[in-house]
Order: sequence, then structure tokens, then C-alpha cells
Amino acid sequence: MYLGNPATMNLYWLAFLFSAISSIQTVVAATLQPQIPAIKSFTESNSSSPFVVTPQVAIVVDNQFQDSGSPSLFSFAKTFRSDLVAITGFDDIPDVVAGDAPSEDSSAPTVFLTLGASTANMTLFNGQETGEAYEFDITNMTYTIKGAEAIGAWWGTRTLLQQVLLSLAANNQTSIPAGSGSDNPGWEIRGFMLDVGRHWFDISFLTDLCVYASFFKMQEFHVHASDFVFDSKILNGDPNSDAWKQLYATMRFQPSEDSPVIGIVAPFANETYTREQFTNFQTTCAEHGITIVPEIDTPAHSLVISKWKPELAIPGHEDFLNISFPDTIPSVESIWEEVLPWFTANEVSIGADEYDQSLADDYIRFVNTMSDYISTTGNKSIRIWGTDEPSPTQNISTNVTIQHWFFPQGSIPVELFQQGYSVINSEQAFLYLIGKAWSDGRSLFELDTDTIWTGAPNGGSWAPNIFSPTDASNNTSPDNPLLRGSIMALWNDFGNNATTPLEIYYQLAKSIPVVAEKMWNGADDSLRESRLTRDEFEAAYPILNAGAPGQNLNRAVKGLVAPATVFKVTDIKQFPLSTGFDSVGPPYTLSFSLQLSNVTGEVPLFTGNDSVLFFDPVASSLTFQDPVTNKFYPLGTPIPFDGSSFTKVDIHATRMMTTVTVNDDDQTMLWQSHIGVSGGGLRLVNMSFAAPAGVIGVDEMNMLAEMRNVSLVIGE
Ligand SMILES: *[C@@H]1O[C@H](CO)[C@@H](O)[C@H](O)[C@H]1NC(C)=O
Ligand SMILES: *[C@@H]1O[C@H](CO)[C@@H](O)[C@H](O)[C@H]1NC(C)=O
Ligand SMILES: *[C@@H]1O[C@H](CO)[C@@H](O)[C@H](O)[C@H]1NC(C)=O
Ligand SMILES: *[C@@H]1O[C@H](CO)[C@@H](O)[C@H](O)[C@H]1NC(C)=O
Ligand SMILES: *[C@@H]1O[C@H](CO)[C@@H](O)[C@H](O)[C@H]1NC(C)=O
Ligand SMILES: *[C@@H]1O[C@H](CO)[C@@H](O)[C@H](O)[C@H]1NC(C)=O
Ligand SMILES: *[C@@H]1O[C@H](CO)[C@@H](O)[C@H](O)[C@H]1NC(C)=O
Ligand SMILES: *[C@@H]1O[C@H](CO)[C@@H](O)[C@H](O)[C@H]1NC(C)=O
Ligand SMILES: *[C@@H]1O[C@H](CO)[C@@H](O)[C@H](O)[C@H]1NC(C)=O
Ligand SMILES: *[C@@H]1O[C@H](CO)[C@@H](O)[C@H](O)[C@H]1NC(C)=O
Ligand SMILES: *[C@@H]1O[C@H](CO)[C@@H](O)[C@H](O)[C@H]1NC(C)=O
Ligand SMILES: *[C@@H]1O[C@H](CO)[C@@H](O)[C@H](O)[C@H]1NC(C)=O
Repeated sequence: MYLGNPATMNLYWLAFLFSAISSIQTVVAATLQPQIPAIKSFTESNSSSPFVVTPQVAIVVDNQFQDSGSPSLFSFAKTFRSDLVAITGFDDIPDVVAGDAPSEDSSAPTVFLTLGASTANMTLFNGQETGEAYEFDITNMTYTIKGAEAIGAWWGTRTLLQQVLLSLAANNQTSIPAGSGSDNPGWEIRGFMLDVGRHWFDISFLTDLCVYASFFKMQEFHVHASDFVFDSKILNGDPNSDAWKQLYATMRFQPSEDSPVIGIVAPFANETYTREQFTNFQTTCAEHGITIVPEIDTPAHSLVISKWKPELAIPGHEDFLNISFPDTIPSVESIWEEVLPWFTANEVSIGADEYDQSLADDYIRFVNTMSDYISTTGNKSIRIWGTDEPSPTQNISTNVTIQHWFFPQGSIPVELFQQGYSVINSEQAFLYLIGKAWSDGRSLFELDTDTIWTGAPNGGSWAPNIFSPTDASNNTSPDNPLLRGSIMALWNDFGNNATTPLEIYYQLAKSIPVVAEKMWNGADDSLRESRLTRDEFEAAYPILNAGAPGQNLNRAVKGLVAPATVFKVTDIKQFPLSTGFDSVGPPYTLSFSLQLSNVTGEVPLFTGNDSVLFFDPVASSLTFQDPVTNKFYPLGTPIPFDGSSFTKVDIHATRMMTTVTVNDDDQTMLWQSHIGVSGGGLRLVNMSFAAPAGVIGVDEMNMLAEMRNVSLVIGE
């Protein structure tokens, strides 16, 4: 991967000359570059030149500890090696070996992974010890990472990789200053949530998100796996209407064929994860230090269960289950009985938000029954969303962790702490995004705005102990033992219509690292001084986003830096033509001239993994398809294709929109989608599509079409 910028070439020469001079005199101490999240402490060495990652770098796992942890230290080291190859381009880095600590005169630079870090001074802010802590010691030949547990060493490898990326960007070198340091998170839970109930995503997309988030030392992915797209005109309170059966409602875990709960996934069995897919997903995430916490949302948001067993629903409010109906709790338990064995986390979420307050006793009995059931059946504890269900006679068990998201009707954290509950901060004022709702200001595009950096009371920075932007009395101290951490959330209230999966990534790309910094380091000077400034974050983010290994959510073209031409073909007479690329992320311009005679059906002109561009003969126009959600986005306006002359088309996309111009006309047209809220207020939003850059045309075009001057150029 090439990360340099030719415009700064002269600086490389200066840096090179300077380092050449300094190496023959005394060693010049240097410190680590600011990275995301910031490292807790580092002291540079004055007696050693930097550690340089070379193509021969050895990765050695301490043979005393290679099997320690799950995943093991050795397994983490193997993932680290492939990431190091991806970042440096050094394809021949030797395989990981188990062995003893390297000697000082070893011939190749060595990364040594071991355990035994002292955790006494590396506790969470609440004083608890954490296996996620690590120490590191860097000399000119050895980079030693010593985890408290294997997971701590894993985070230490992220630190090394980020330093290599920052070094490449700064001076095209792979060097890391000598010195020693220690690092540990401030909170146990540092996560993000994605609503996969109201929007369908391939498991590969969820896996890529894990890999991406782990680069910033997040440790949890909360998967909200059941829900429905609300429509008040359809869910209209009429107990005699069955219009609610039309609403899109899903539960994403595919039960085994002979399961008593198989009916729950019909008719969207095509939009579910099999046990094998989900298991592989959890495994890959675990190999990157990420735990998957699944959620099946009940007793509200439960339309998918009502569609399966209508007798369980409250008539006229079919998204609510009637908890006092005898078969309701057994039915919900039967769903968990089916899927609990899938899950590797020791916690799951039962959702339990936004239920009827007048049924508080039923609600509390339901939550406590599910807590006992899931503990007995699956040896797991549960979480719920903070929900105000006041009862004079019952309380939710303090075994249940409460995920606060909303004042005042949701929950009031300071009161929850007084009552002895463990709390996770997902307060919407700081931590909520909604797919595409940014387009009319209903929610933010990303969380890197003032809300995080200066959104706390008195203009301070947000941290997991901050719940209210205005009322300091609603916040708590970072050392509160009942504050477990924080999870940001991305909801898909507008369903599949609103976004492609990659558009969801665009909203998360910067949001994840910005909260990851706060979740690791907090915002309190007295606890930790080594936090990132906003400027340091802004400087490091583009480099770390572009270089984050193990996934390619940016759909970048390896080795190309914008502006650049990805491919250019002057004349295509034989279809289909494979380009050797697949899907290329915005910003880009895809241009072609097309001569097209009578076609009867839709013709895929360009095909990629993330999008397909069709010619639609009925509308005589162009339509994008999202092949994952199977949604079609017609342009609407006809385009004058014919069989006797060429029509020139230029499609330009950014992360905000996709536009087209025809025959260099002044008129620019947009691809848009209808999204609505509560069955009303349907409005148009812009769609951003990746370039469908894999295959040009299909066989049937050979008789009907000719294409010229096809090019794909990346850049604004
Ligand atoms: C390294 O040298 C600098 C400047 O001479 C000094 O301030 C610093 O304390 C030294 N660090 C160590 C670890 O000796
Ligand atoms: C490399 O490190 C060793 C031991 O830490 C030290 O003796 C030696 O001077 C260093 N060499 C350079 C060039 O920094
Ligand atoms: C922890 O920190 C204290 C105070 O800074 C220090 O005295 C002590 O030696 C440290 N303990 C360990 C195990 O590093
Ligand atoms: C960066 O270094 C690599 C290998 O050392 C070299 O091939 C490449 O041309 C360099 N790039 C720049 C911009 O100097
Ligand atoms: C719930 O079911 C119970 C038992 O069948 C029934 O008595 C009650 O009326 C139902 N509640 C609602 C709100 O429909
Ligand atoms: C139950 O889970 C805990 C961790 O949450 C674990 O320590 C314990 O061994 C498990 N018990 C059984 C019977 O699996
Ligand atoms: C909490 O769970 C434990 C078992 O995990 C159980 O023994 C205890 O009764 C539960 N406490 C409450 C208040 O439900
Ligand atoms: C916290 O927020 C709630 C809801 O906005 C408010 O009623 C309450 O007074 C605030 N302060 C405390 C200490 O609970
Ligand atoms: C519920 O919890 C509150 C606060 O801890 C306590 O005052 C109250 O007595 C509890 N009620 C019941 C019915 O246990
Ligand atoms: C296209 O179809 C029309 C109507 O069916 C016909 O008149 C015309 O000749 C066809 N053109 C070509 C190039 O086949
Ligand atoms: C799944 O099937 C439903 C019902 O046939 C259909 O509406 C939907 O588009 C399909 N989903 C995908 C992703 O193909
Ligand atoms: C999705 O788009 C279709 C077609 O434009 C529209 O009829 C439908 O109401 C939209 N659905 C939602 C949930 O926005």
C-alpha cells in the first residue's frame, strides 16, 4: 500500500538526511505519534535508535504462554502478522513462531509477544484489574509486547500497527521510536450497536465492521437482530385491522429446519444468518478482540413475533406482546432456547424498551423471568434498554445491566446507580445515529462533531460518565463501579430504502474512532493526561482510516491514490468484459458512451459486489440496484439511448450522493429514494453508490450494443 504524498517529497529527503546525520552522532529521542486511542504512557529512550519493521521481521510468541487465552496469544499473533503484511506490503514476513525471548544480538528485528504485565497500576477507572492492559518496550532490535492477558497483547499489536502507518505517512519509513510504555482502557465496555433488524446486511459487512472497530480498540459489537419498520398508518390502533401484517418485521437468526420456532423467520428466511455464518462471524470478531452481544427485542418492537403467533399480540398494538397471555413467555423462551447455544458472549440483550407503562408489573415480571431463564438455560446474564416502568410492588433484578439511552422517560442513571444497577451509557444526545436521517437534520451524519468534543456541560468533552449535555447532576464520576462503559448506536428507522450498507459504514467510519478514544481514555485530567486533542485526532484519523487492515470498507483500489484512473477502455465490442476490479468507493466518476438498440428486459450495464447499474427499457433510463437488500433505485428521467448514435453518460458519486449528466448537458440528475417516518412525510433522500466496476455488460448486449470511452476515475 502506498501512503505517501509526492508533494512532500522534499521533506522526505530532509528527514532522511537528518536521520543519517543523527545516527552517526548520538541517538535523538523521539516520542510516539498521536494515535487513536491515545496511549496512556510512553517514555522515549535516549540510548537506542528506532525499531524498524523490515521484510525479515520475526514475530515470536513466548512459548510459555502461546496457548494462553481464548483466542490464544499465538492465534492473535497470526492475525497480527497478516495485518502487518497488509500495512507494509512486506509479503514475505516469516510465519509466527513460538520461542524464547530474543537475544539482543539477534539478526532480524523481532516483535516478541508475551504475558505477565503487572496490572496493579493499570486498572479500569473504577479500580478493577483488566486483562486488556499491556506494557511495551521498544529497542532498536526488539519490540516486546507484554499483555496482562492475551487480549491485552492483542491491543498492543494495534498500537504497533498504528505507529507503522503513521510513520509511513510521515516519512515513508516503518520505524517506531525506542522507549517503553504502558496502556489500558478506562472502561470494560467499549462498543457500537447496529440495527440489523430494520435493515438487512450481509454477514461479511458485519464482520468487516468488527475488524475495523477493533483497530481502534473497541471490544464489543451489539447486534440488534430483530425489529420492524414503524408505520402509524398501518399500525393504527384498530383491533380489527390486520394491515400490520404488511409491515417489514424480521428476526435475523435462522432456526434449524425442524425447530418449533422456524415459523418466526417466514417470509424473510432469505434475510437471516445461519448458525454457521453467525458462528464464523463471532469467531472472526473474537480473533480481533471483539465480543458479539446479540439482541432479540421483546416485549415491544415484537411485530415479527406477532406475525408468527398473532394470538400473543395486544390487538390494535401488535408490536406489543401480551405478557399475561399464557403462551407469551414460553414462546419468547423457545426462541432463546433455539439460539442461546449459538452465542459465545456471556451476556445477551432482550431489548425491553418502549413498552406500555400501564403494564409495568407485567413488564418487570417478564424481564426477571427472562433473566432467570437465560441464566439457567444459557449461563448468561441479560441487558435491557433503560425503560421507565414504575411499579409500587416489583423491581427489576439488579442482575440485569441497564443500557441508558434517553431522558427523562427512559431511565435516570444517577437513580439506577443508587438502586444498585450496572449501567451502560448509550445516551442518544451523544451516541445515536440513524441511517440517512442526517439528510434533513433529524440526526447527525457522524459523531465527530461538537457533541463529542465540546458537548458535555460547560463545553467539556463527552466521556462514558457523561449522560447529560446540560445538567451535570445527571452525570457520574469515571470511577463509579457500576458504570460499565458505553455503546454508540446506529439505528435504521427508515429500513432498507434509506441506505446501502456502505452508506452505513460512511456514518460509522469516523464515529467509531472518535468514541473509541473517549471510551479508552475518558475526559478527566486527574485520571489520565494523555488524551488526544481534537487536532491530533483529525490529523491521525485519515491515515488510520485509510490504512486500517483486514477489511476494505472504503472500497479503495490497492496502490492507487486519488486522483487516478482505475481503468480506461476505448471500444468494447465483446461483452461481458471483466475489468479485474470489483467495487470502487466514492468519490469517483464512471463515464461511458453507449449505443443501444431495442432491448426488452433490464440489462445490467455494469456489475459490482455492492451495486449494479441497469438499463431499464420501460423507463428508458438507468437504475441502480443494491444487490444486498435487493432494492432498486430508478433515476426516473429518460435517457436518449438509441441504436444509431452514442449517448455519453458521466456518473459521479460522493459519499453523500450519486449524480449523472448526459451528453455533457448542464442538467445534473440525482439517484434518490423515498423514505418515510410513521407512515407519513415520505421524502426523497440522495443515495451514494459504489462504482459497479467488476463486469461491463452481459452476453445479450453483443447483438444490441456498443460501448466506447469507458473509464473509471477516482477523486472528487
Ligand atoms: C532523554 O533526554 C532528554 C533530553 O536530554 C531528557 O529530558 C530525558 O529525561 C531523557 N530521558 C531519559 C529516559 O533518560
Ligand atoms: C541498539 O540497542 C542496544 C541495546 O539496547 C544499544 O547498545 C545500541 O547502542 C543500540 N544501537 C543503536 C544504533 O542505537
Ligand atoms: C504503581 O504506582 C506506584 C505509584 O506511582 C508505584 O509506587 C508502584 O511501584 C507501582 N507499582 C507497580 C507494580 O508498578
Ligand atoms: C517509499 O519507500 C518505498 C520502499 O522503501 C519506495 O519504493 C517508494 O518509492 C517510497 N515512496 C516515496 C513516495 O518516497
Ligand atoms: C392478555 O391476555 C389475557 C389472558 O388471555 C387477557 O385476559 C387480556 O385481556 C389480554 N390483554 C390485552 C391487553 O389484550
Ligand atoms: C458460566 O459462565 C461463567 C462466565 O460468565 C463461567 O465462569 C462459568 O464457568 C460458566 N458456567 C458453566 C456451567 O458453564
Ligand atoms: C442473580 O443471579 C444469581 C445467579 O446468577 C442468582 O443466584 C440470584 O438470585 C440473582 N439475583 C436476583 C436479585 O435475581
Ligand atoms: C436528571 O434528569 C432528569 C430528567 O431530565 C431530571 O428530572 C432530573 O432532575 C435530573 N437530575 C437528577 C439528579 O436526577
Ligand atoms: C425497589 O427498589 C427500591 C430502591 O432500591 C426500594 O426502595 C424498594 O423497596 C424496592 N421495592 C421492592 C418491592 O422491592
Ligand atoms: C426497434 O423496434 C422498433 C419497434 O419495434 C422498430 O421499428 C425498429 O426498427 C427497431 N430498431 C432496431 C435497430 O432494431
Ligand atoms: C427476501 O424475500 C422477500 C419476499 O419474497 C423479498 O421481498 C425480499 O426482497 C427478499 N430479500 C432479498 C435481500 O432478496
Ligand atoms: C420504500 O420505497 C417505496 C418506493 O418508493 C415506498 O413506496 C415505500 O413507502 C418506502 N418504504 C419506507 C418504509 O419508507
